[in-house]
Amino acid sequence: MGLSKASCNVFLLQLFIVVCLVFQCFDVKVHADLNATLTVDASGASGRQIPETLFGIFFEEINHAGAGGLWAELVSNRGFEAGGPNIPSNIDPWSIIGSETSINVETDRTSCFERNKVALRLEVLCDSTGNNICPADGVGVYNPGFWGMNIEQGKKYKVVFYARSTGPLNLSVSFTGSNSVGNLASTMIKGSASDFSNWTKVEALLVAKATNPNSRLQLTTTTKGVIWLDQVSAMPLDTYKGHGFRSDLFQMLVDMKPSFIRFPGGCFVEGDWLMNAFRWKAAVGPWEERPGHFGDVWKYWTDDGLGYFEFLQLAEDLDALPIWVFNNGVSHNDEVDTTAVLPFVQEALDGIEFARGDQTSKWGSIRASMGHPEPFNLKYVAVGNEDCGKKNYRGNYLKFYGAIRRAYPDIEIISNCDGSSTPLDHPADMYDYHIYTSANDMFSRATTFNRVTRSGPKAFVSEYAVTGKDAGQGSLLAALAEAAFLIGLEKNSDVVKMASYAPLFVNANDRRWNPDSIVFNSFQLYGTPSYWMQLFFSESNGATLLNSSLQATASNSLIASAITWQSSVDKKNYIRIKAVNFGATAVNLKISLNGLDPNSLQSSGSTKSVLTSTNVMDENSFSQPKKVVPIQSLVQSVGKDMNVIVAPHSFTLLDLLKESSNLKMPGSDSSTWSSI
Ligand code: AHR
Repeated sequence: MGLSKASCNVFLLQLFIVVCLVFQCFDVKVHADLNATLTVDASGASGRQIPETLFGIFFEEINHAGAGGLWAELVSNRGFEAGGPNIPSNIDPWSIIGSETSINVETDRTSCFERNKVALRLEVLCDSTGNNICPADGVGVYNPGFWGMNIEQGKKYKVVFYARSTGPLNLSVSFTGSNSVGNLASTMIKGSASDFSNWTKVEALLVAKATNPNSRLQLTTTTKGVIWLDQVSAMPLDTYKGHGFRSDLFQMLVDMKPSFIRFPGGCFVEGDWLMNAFRWKAAVGPWEERPGHFGDVWKYWTDDGLGYFEFLQLAEDLDALPIWVFNNGVSHNDEVDTTAVLPFVQEALDGIEFARGDQTSKWGSIRASMGHPEPFNLKYVAVGNEDCGKKNYRGNYLKFYGAIRRAYPDIEIISNCDGSSTPLDHPADMYDYHIYTSANDMFSRATTFNRVTRSGPKAFVSEYAVTGKDAGQGSLLAALAEAAFLIGLEKNSDVVKMASYAPLFVNANDRRWNPDSIVFNSFQLYGTPSYWMQLFFSESNGATLLNSSLQATASNSLIASAITWQSSVDKKNYIRIKAVNFGATAVNLKISLNGLDPNSLQSSGSTKSVLTSTNVMDENSFSQPKKVVPIQSLVQSVGKDMNVIVAPHSFTLLDLLKESSNLKMPGSDSSTWSSI
């Protein structure tokens, strides 16, 4: 029995109404208990330029953000150094293929690389003939990468390793599924005994015949003898400009349009102990010669393929200013006395020379040898991370400050001490401000910088996030509170110069810190609501903040701001209104745009984007990566006075397209109209 045409139409109408209510087609007609008015001086006469630098990103090697993340290297522990310099050592995550009667695997210290002497020795006991026949697939070792390698059909992978052998070499190099099932790509490396009597570099290009996100790299043989292996690397060719950054994760960063990138930490820079802190000199030059290190705060080994050079390259590729955080002789548990800190100061000066020195300078020449003869645009350095309270911080800081200021007067130096409540007692160009807190507290901090002195060093809010139960693994609630905080920073961008969320990345297999902006595994990724929230601010850098005031009847859960910005794509000018409704009740927001010519806004081309969800604790996930993402719609009627329903628990953005030539520029004569 089918539905009649009439009942079908009624059903469709009902469905339409339900869909419309859910997606708020009828903005103005939806019931809202609360009223508010946002009055904006849209003339721009009282506007102020937001710093070009305001919103950027902070990359820390935490949660396998780099190793097993943005850095596309597929092999984990490629030099067999992760088990320490002593032998025998743990070769994890490498595993042996073959039984005790067919192969004996151990580490020794015969590598050709001076800074990382550990190599892998494979004594193959079986053979292709005789009475100890090797299994058909051979014996050897495999590396599962970082919780499985993502090998994709049609893509090319460059495998590089170093080998030595007592006899002829017959080594199969292959990508297979886990449990060795399925050959995705393979090649044979053959050579005579004399070819491999000394350490020899082998390079092979493998093209994948199939896709498997949980693959492994195998090195196997069926020939008796002894083989040594070292520095085994497998990189996809498909990385941004061949620079080694995993394409999909890199694109997520591009979409944020960050003005700067702070790196490489965080606590990663400090270490629990100084001996485990990141040291830039051990992370430049040929990758094979980098010793790697154990990051003892976040508890994992990095081969340091993503080193100081690569961070600078990443900044350049993102068109973002690099902000280098270096260790100032202070870790979580030990400190260098100020009287002995000069070698650390010299290390920082050398690092700046590496980034900026010309090709004839000692360290600039190493940068040039790595393929970047032109200097990197390093203009900001941070002396340590969260070390202000440490015994030697001020003393050490002053040594760094004096030396860097003398050698590089244009570099801006960032202190770890918070200058927002009391003025700094030492010279600095900026002070670092970190805030991890509950959603309510973060929301209330939208006004924190209203109360800060307007003179002196500016704030670098280099780490902010809602954490704890309000945030889960990245909730809408957290994103809303953070959005309010950022609106506050935007309004106070005369004293706040930079801001970045933390942490940026998490590999879902190693969640050391919750929540994070971008979640990934070997082949999937998604942005948390906080990631999408940040995109609402990506046009703010260099935009004009319009003077606005908000009058609300009974609600203090609303915060709003207005900017004008120019699209780099269509070169058109927009007024952008952002409003966070942190409460559970819809708000009828009346927007009055003063100082505009009549009809100076265009309905066509004006849009509304709303970040919300049915439950304020909703999160995205691999199975529902777009559960909480902005939904964009066209704005039907725009005008100098308009009403917008701001949904409960939402972050709403209105981009109102302006006719050109009708906005007065900040500081322009009040009777003059000019275009931006
Ligand atoms: O962002 C995570 C950590 O939080 C950073 O490493 C540290 O600076 C802060 O304590």
